[in-house]
Amino acid sequence: MVRVLFVCLGNVCRSPMAHGLFHQMLERAGASHVVEVDSAGTHTFHIGRAPDPRAQACALRRGVDLSVLQARRLDVLDFEEFDYLVAMDRENLQHLLAIAPPAHQHKIHLFLEFAPELHEDEIPDPYFGGPSGFERVLDLIEEGSRGLLEHLQAVHRATR
Ligand code: 4NP
Repeated sequence: MVRVLFVCLGNVCRSPMAHGLFHQMLERAGASHVVEVDSAGTHTFHIGRAPDPRAQACALRRGVDLSVLQARRLDVLDFEEFDYLVAMDRENLQHLLAIAPPAHQHKIHLFLEFAPELHEDEIPDPYFGGPSGFERVLDLIEEGSRGLLEHLQAVHRATR
């Protein structure tokens, strides 16, 4: 089993969208039984809540139902339990690098590392913006997810 944790600030917009969309991609690729996906927030003020309604609506238009997800805070045990901790932006990345035990630092990635063709490195926080921000986030997440799946298929035989 390979375990992937998507991390953003609030765990109500970007990381749950990545969680739902990447899971859909794994199911379509026949790999959802060998890759476990979860998401968490570095500083969530929304613990226990479902994703933001704008994130849910945007994901649902692409066939992804986020309504069952619940925001949770990143826990130091996550560094042991997950193989990939994938940050949405540089602030989340710095947070993860600052608190990860040395033995687990190598598990930390910036999501768009897996989509080098975009020449972008951050998935911008859509929380205080309009609906188009969420569409843009999901476009970036789709590209990152495709690249992450290809990476897993290249590195972990069971995911092929
Ligand atoms: P996320 O977006 O990190 O993509 O979940 C945010 C959600 C909530 C807040 C900020 C960003 N907030 O300030 O409550």
